[in-house]
Amino acid sequence: MAQENIVWHSHVLDRVQRESVNGHPALVIWFTGLSGSGKSTLAGALEQALFVRGIKTYLLDGDNVRHGLCSDLGFSEIDRQENIRRVGEVAKLMVDAGLVVLTAFISPHRAERQKIRNLIEEGRFIEVYVDTPLEICELRDPKGLYKKARAGELHNFTGIDADYEAPEQPEIYLDGSQSVESSVEKLLFALKNYEILPT
Ligand code: ADX
Repeated sequence: MAQENIVWHSHVLDRVQRESVNGHPALVIWFTGLSGSGKSTLAGALEQALFVRGIKTYLLDGDNVRHGLCSDLGFSEIDRQENIRRVGEVAKLMVDAGLVVLTAFISPHRAERQKIRNLIEEGRFIEVYVDTPLEICELRDPKGLYKKARAGELHNFTGIDADYEAPEQPEIYLDGSQSVESSVEKLLFALKNYEILPT
């Protein structure tokens, strides 16, 4: 939507100043994967590991955001697009606020994830693909939703009757069948390339 009569106001304090006070760059660590793949668990564990190292973080989690900011949205294609668009805009604001933003959303479509990548400055969008086979997610089924989807009680469920498009070149690839501890180690190691942790 064109914002014809609205002019961008540049404020004196900017991201660079906030980053220099925080002592690390601001960026987005975007977890994507099936429901039950472990995104939220891994993002939460990574956030804790970063927090104890003095990094300023914030975690945006799909299930939680859908209780508030996106409580008006469902799981149709158009609603998922809007869900991801809003989260991308919030993540962008949080990067401007100097934070390391972790997000855990299925975000099933490449095009939507690419839009967020384009929205965030080059090099500040780190896509993490949590690759957990559908069979494992279904076995875990922490919320009983796969069971409902298989029974036809829940429609447009990702992996069952809605698509998931896996990232082709994620910055970080995680095998979702590995332990949380080893995945967090891998993440911390990979993040050394982004200067938020000492090498
Ligand atoms: S996304 O597709 O729009 O990125 P999001 O990550 O916000 O999804 O929400 C996914 C969570 O909503 C799942 O982990 C699951 O708990 C719940 N959920 C409820 N209905 C569906 C559905 N039809 N498809 C996928 N997840 C669903």
